[in-house]
Amino acid sequence: MDTFLPEHKRTVYCGRIRPEDIGKEVVLCGWVHRRRDHGGLVFVDLRDREGLAQVVIDPVTSPEAHAKADALRVEYVLSVRGVVRRRPEGTENPNLPTGAVEVSATALAILNESKPIPFSLEDDSDVAENVRLKYRYLDLRRPSIQAMFMKRAVLARSVREYFFENGFLEVETPVLTKSTPEGARDYLVPSRVNAGMFYALPQSPQLFKQILMIAGYDRYAQIVKCFRDEDLRADRQPEFTQIDVEMSFIDRDDIFLMMEGLMARVFRDVLGEEIRNPIPRMSYREAMDRFGVDKPDTRFGLEITDHTALLSKTDFRVFAEVASRGGVIRGITAPGMAESSRSEIAAFEEVAKIGGASGLASFKVTDAGLTSSLAKFFPASLLTSLREAGGAKPGDLILLVADSFDVACSSLGRLRLHLGEKLGLIDPSLHHLLWVTDFPLLEWDKEEKRWGAMHHPFTAPLDEDLPLLATDPGKVRAKAYDMVLNGSEIGGGSIRIHRKDVQSRMFDLLNIGPEDARVKFGFLLEALEFGAPPHGGIAFGLDRLAMLFSGAKSLRDVIAFPKTQKATCLMTEAPSGVDVKQLRELSIRVTAPEKK
Ligand code: AMO
Repeated sequence: MDTFLPEHKRTVYCGRIRPEDIGKEVVLCGWVHRRRDHGGLVFVDLRDREGLAQVVIDPVTSPEAHAKADALRVEYVLSVRGVVRRRPEGTENPNLPTGAVEVSATALAILNESKPIPFSLEDDSDVAENVRLKYRYLDLRRPSIQAMFMKRAVLARSVREYFFENGFLEVETPVLTKSTPEGARDYLVPSRVNAGMFYALPQSPQLFKQILMIAGYDRYAQIVKCFRDEDLRADRQPEFTQIDVEMSFIDRDDIFLMMEGLMARVFRDVLGEEIRNPIPRMSYREAMDRFGVDKPDTRFGLEITDHTALLSKTDFRVFAEVASRGGVIRGITAPGMAESSRSEIAAFEEVAKIGGASGLASFKVTDAGLTSSLAKFFPASLLTSLREAGGAKPGDLILLVADSFDVACSSLGRLRLHLGEKLGLIDPSLHHLLWVTDFPLLEWDKEEKRWGAMHHPFTAPLDEDLPLLATDPGKVRAKAYDMVLNGSEIGGGSIRIHRKDVQSRMFDLLNIGPEDARVKFGFLLEALEFGAPPHGGIAFGLDRLAMLFSGAKSLRDVIAFPKTQKATCLMTEAPSGVDVKQLRELSIRVTAPEKK
């Protein structure tokens, strides 16, 4: 192995050499990606974060370098001095940005060796994710993953520049803090000096950003870590990053305008794409009605149709009963799917059942009309109306769910996405942004039998719905909004309550007594009494944006050191046990986990 000397310092990244460098002497530093011995000439593809360069080591012109080349193995770390030259005709690689040139080595230093790696770093190699995460530093060397992190860095820079140029201040908020109102479980940190007391890691800086408004820092934006102990999915991590924003003396339209500017900026900087502003808006109710979800993917149609009025008064008992209980009969039309086999239809039913439906009724549309095992329950004229209402043509398949509004939405919403993918209706090159507005202020907690805040308890109701707070709280809409990109919720926020009287009514409704409110959010409530300006804000999931921008399937791909589905880090083996001494200092005794 060679000592790292000044002459081994990189002059250019491997991935950056270009035909204009021909004739120049360069020093490259990187890892051996591949090595080929062509009977005398040794070819090394040297890799760094910018890409690959082909290095040629010739025994005749560089005997010393060639002598070392024999020992080279994959992932050895090298410094190579050489001259850039054009590749011989016919040997160019048009798939590589460096594919027209190569570096003819004059000297080579082996800076470190590597054990044989446990998996190939070729982008198309299929490696189990747990192995990739255990050796995350190797996985992170893959060109496709490095490209994602470069995009993420451009995204973060673009966000910071935008906010800085628009007069926002980046203020850091604490990580050791009190429970915040986002509604997931907290991660707790025991306090040594205050035995038996705990900090909570912030689920978001929500309360602090509101306090900053009260403190007069009227435009705040921070890229910040948040922590939530919740069930994990591909688009959720226990520790994730928000682009957190709050503004004073604004209404909803000001927030929309500023955030539309942000989106235009990041789409331009990260993807080189111009988006068309303003971003379309859709009420929560309309989103649920038409798409069955509050984050619709509007890149394709397959909208949901309501047939309750049409189908509630027939001989088919199931529909009649659901309708009499206040439920709905809704459906979607799958184009060209009339010839689906029984098992295919059963598979659609399974998808609907995941959403809670107890069954799925299907009608095949033929030239002669609708055929179905249920057709006998309905007069022909009604079947014709069903076909027309569903916008169905011969060859299509009408699928119906009869259930409560919520279940019909969640099952048909899932089915719609399933069919959209199966039928290839989703163009992956499209980026559809959407504001979803006017969310319900409250949601009914069936287990606790009480109202809970849908967003958080500081979200303001719509002015025109204020009287309903006393009479019909479930109907009150909030000044809350989400931003959706291709069916993913990328951000959410609201205009806040800044008046103490409205806040007290809200706590009453949420069954949060004055003492409870004082313990949980006393500092904010007190601050609200010292001249709180009208304010509101939003937070975007930076990881989610990075994931969607780079086409990754999971947040884990765009987080350098992510956690598994079970919230563990396979590389560091966190979480782990700690010394009894440490526990004693914290006045903590660990009991064995309860047996289920
Ligand atoms: P909310 O809870 O909607 O709002 O979060 C804002 C955005 O953060 C992202 N996000 C997540 N990303 C990855 N993993 C998670 N576990 C996770 N949870 C949320 C989503 C989401 O849209 N304080 C409020 C914002 C406000 O009112 O201003 C808040 O945190 O993209």
